[in-house]
Amino acid sequence: MRLIEVENYQEMSEKVCQLMINRITDLTKPVLGLATGSTPERLYQLLVEVNQKDVVSFQDVTTFNLDEYIGLEATDPNSYRYYMNDKLFNHIDIPDEQTHIPNGRADDSEQECARYEALIQQVGGIDIQLLGLGLNGHIGFNEPGTSFKQKTHVVELEESTRKANARFFESIDDVPTHAITMGINTIMQSKEIMLMVSGEKKAGALDRLLNGEVTEEFPASILNEHDHVTIVADKAALLTSSKTK
Ligand code: GLP
Repeated sequence: MRLIEVENYQEMSEKVCQLMINRITDLTKPVLGLATGSTPERLYQLLVEVNQKDVVSFQDVTTFNLDEYIGLEATDPNSYRYYMNDKLFNHIDIPDEQTHIPNGRADDSEQECARYEALIQQVGGIDIQLLGLGLNGHIGFNEPGTSFKQKTHVVELEESTRKANARFFESIDDVPTHAITMGINTIMQSKEIMLMVSGEKKAGALDRLLNGEVTEEFPASILNEHDHVTIVADKAALLTSSKTK
C-alpha cells in the first residue's frame, strides 16, 4: 500500500483530484468506482472545476457507485443517486447512461444486485475505485463480519452506521435499515483503489487498517492484500498511527 500524507482535507482532495485526472487522461475508456459521504465532497467540486475548465473530459468515462440505500427514490435528497447527480454528474460532461448506481427501489433487490455485478463485469471491471472509510472499518456498506467473498449484495446497516449517517436525515428513524452495496470481492477486483481518509475521528480506524490484522471483523483491512492501493490521508487522520510507529 502506498500512503500519501497530506496536511488537511483540502490537500487530500487536491491530491486525489490530480491522481484521478492523470488516470482519466491515460485510459481510453476509464471505468471509475465512486463513493459518497462527506469525504469526497470537495474532490467532486474540484472535478467539476477541472471539467468546466476543459482540463479533463468525462465523455468516455463510465462510473459505478459503491452503494445505495434501499427504499429511497432517486429524487430523495438522501439517496446516493441524488447526491451524485447534485454534486458531480449534473455539472460535468458525462452522459447520464454511463453513470450507474444500484437501484434502491428495484422490486427485487437480489436481482438488482446480480444485474449490477454483471454490468461491472460487462464493461471489463473497475479501473479506479474511490473509497471512504467508515468508523467501524466499513467500505461501501460492507459492515464488520461481511465475508470477503461477497459480491454486490443486500446489507442490513449497523446501528452505529445509521447513527453516523443520521446527520443527513431529519431523524435516525428516517435512515433506511438496508442498502445494496458492492461486495468486498467486487471492490478487490478493481485494478486500482484510492482510499481517502480525513479528520481525527477516523484516526482509530486508519490506525487499525495500517497496523492491525486482516480480518472480516474490520472490512477495510482486506485492502492490505490488494496490489495497487493508494491511501491519501491527512495529518489528523494519521495522528494515532504515527504515535504507534
Ligand atoms: C458511508 C458510505 C461509505 C462512505 C463511508 C464514510 O456510510 N456508505 O461509502 O465511504 O460511510 O462516510 P464519510 O465520508 O461521510 O465519513
